[in-house]
Amino acid sequence: MTKKILVVTGGGDCPGLNAVIRGIVKSAQLDGGWEVIGCIESYNGLLKDDVEIVNLTEKDVAGIHVNGGTIIKTTNKGGPFHFPIQQPDGSWIEVDRSELFKKRLDNLGIDAIISIGGDGSQRISLQLANMGINMVGVPKTIDNDLSATDFTFGFQTAVQIATEAVDKLVTTASSHSRVFILEVMGRDAGWIALHSSIAGGAEVCIIPEIPYDPKKVLEKINSRYKNGHGFCNIVISEGAKGLDGKITGTAPTAVGDQHIKLGGVGDKLKYELEKLGFEHDIRVMVLGHLQRGGTPVAYDRILATAFGVKAFELVKEQKYRTMVVYNHPNISYVSLDDAIKSPNNVNPETSSLVNTARKIGISFGD
Ligand code: F6P
Repeated sequence: MTKKILVVTGGGDCPGLNAVIRGIVKSAQLDGGWEVIGCIESYNGLLKDDVEIVNLTEKDVAGIHVNGGTIIKTTNKGGPFHFPIQQPDGSWIEVDRSELFKKRLDNLGIDAIISIGGDGSQRISLQLANMGINMVGVPKTIDNDLSATDFTFGFQTAVQIATEAVDKLVTTASSHSRVFILEVMGRDAGWIALHSSIAGGAEVCIIPEIPYDPKKVLEKINSRYKNGHGFCNIVISEGAKGLDGKITGTAPTAVGDQHIKLGGVGDKLKYELEKLGFEHDIRVMVLGHLQRGGTPVAYDRILATAFGVKAFELVKEQKYRTMVVYNHPNISYVSLDDAIKSPNNVNPETSSLVNTARKIGISFGD
């Protein structure tokens, strides 16, 4: 009898999602006796009143590993346990639709779900596994903030894009004797900033794990100016904190969104430097969602394909309540419980990359 796998992509989009989907579909089809179904817009495809799912065949996934985004769409709002519903008066409430979800899975004869998502999505995977649903997770995020895996796919692409931005800013900064502050993503983890600072040759790298002192940043900048000429490139993580430990961002406004929107710390640093009396030009560039869009680099395509193939294998072997991981040199798996136990942050004391950066003169503003 044909077995059925439901594939879900959840949370923010990320380069490599399509390569995972292709890996699952191709390996399932080659194995034979499997049907792969995509749930449109994360779990919403089975939560909305009008069910939205799509059969995925080898033909549907041909060549998609090259494309960014996800062919089955995604959302970082709601989910089976917090599904937003609009009331007659226009207000919104969140309801638990997990039982309805399970019933619909049973009606469709789904044997297992492969959930491709970050920590928030894998928390939902665990909740669904607790309801007896056969779950396999695949770790996705440009932030690289999951500790169970050496790397998440999407991260290398984001680093490449951020590095190219630093490369470009260096030439304009040096021509104008300016300071450029490049704000990059990463939420509470400084990986994108750390990697792109080293790769791009920034002079200052500010990450959430090392609170910065604007005076120390200014010292570094001043050391690079002589007779009015000089320049300095600063890469700052969106989640960076000053000595007061406060993050910069705004409360979410969209219905069902629970994440604080980080952003603005680059402008904050500019203001702080100007207040300290810095007189040269400072420009701020927020790289934003460019870091998540477009074609995945080769590394992410390979990792994502390997993750997709492994996720199918886990389903085939009925190794449920698990998440695929990369522990060099192996593509392996951990239990979902372990997968979300601790975040992956830069450890300022033990990170060899922090040491590398310091040894080539990059300041962390501390
Ligand atoms: O987690 C991935 C990420 O891109 C973060 O780096 C960033 O803070 C967040 O998502 C942005 O989310 P949104 O797409 O909701 O603005």
